[in-house]
Amino acid sequence: MAPRSILFLHRKFSVASALLFSLSLISPAVGGAIPPRSDSKSCNSPRRFGFLLPRSFSVLDVFGPLEVLQALSRQTHLELALLSRTLDPASTAPVAAGMNKFNSSFYPTVVPTYTYADDPPIDVLVIPGGAAARSPDLGPEIDYIKKVFPKLQYLITICTGAGIAAQAGVLDGHRATTNKAAWASMTAMGPEVKWVSPARWVEDGKVWTSSGVTAGIDLAFEFIKQKYENGTAIAESAAGSLEHTIITDWRDDPWSARFNVPVSN
Ligand SMILES: *[C@@H]1O[C@H](CO)[C@@H](O)[C@H](O)[C@H]1NC(C)=O
Ligand SMILES: *[C@@H]1O[C@H](CO)[C@@H](O)[C@H](O)[C@H]1NC(C)=O
Repeated sequence: MAPRSILFLHRKFSVASALLFSLSLISPAVGGAIPPRSDSKSCNSPRRFGFLLPRSFSVLDVFGPLEVLQALSRQTHLELALLSRTLDPASTAPVAAGMNKFNSSFYPTVVPTYTYADDPPIDVLVIPGGAAARSPDLGPEIDYIKKVFPKLQYLITICTGAGIAAQAGVLDGHRATTNKAAWASMTAMGPEVKWVSPARWVEDGKVWTSSGVTAGIDLAFEFIKQKYENGTAIAESAAGSLEHTIITDWRDDPWSARFNVPVSN
């Protein structure tokens, strides 16, 4: 049993029954349930990350958190799955030529490692935003998110990735945030979501959502601090290497006022 569930049970029981419950856990008959050593985080820490790569994803929504998590992967075991519809390179290019009026060829591609149909086991799904969030053609992404969400330990959205998750219905009833520059159009995608502003990021149980693009980097650092053994030291060391000043207060969000987003939730 996970240590968090044990704590939860403790709160519900009287002190005496909680003690008996703890003793029953240390009895050899249920030896497998004993949490390892003094470490309360490592046995629960998510190890398998999937990044969704919809057409016209925002580059930094993916590579910001990926850079931070890769630093973590040098300190603890992590696995990465890059997910898309097919194994063809996933492009940041606009879906329609009309969205590329200067005919630029400035769109990198990323090679996926799994298709949605492969449905590899993952603990965390990271959904980036970008022009992707406004694509009229997100059917396979939405189907995959709906299918995988119940199996996840955590869902993380970056920027307008919250709009994609909202379209899949998985943010319904959750507190969540998104890019304040795209607030009206993204929040309209999830009328049942408790949209939070101001917020650099919002944690609500298994659902973590960030504000615009670079906020995903601060979310990733906070996630490491909370979910991994020695996470604070790892996050601070990695931030030093990146020369990134972490925003540590989730309410620290000047963009909310800048884009006239009303205070909510
Ligand atoms: C757009 O650019 C490509 C090269 O990147 C070129 O082949 C094509 O003719 C251009 N289209 C227009 C309408 O200018
Ligand atoms: C914690 O992480 C820091 C930064 O990566 C590292 O220097 C230190 O050795 C780690 N401590 C433990 C106990 O793992």
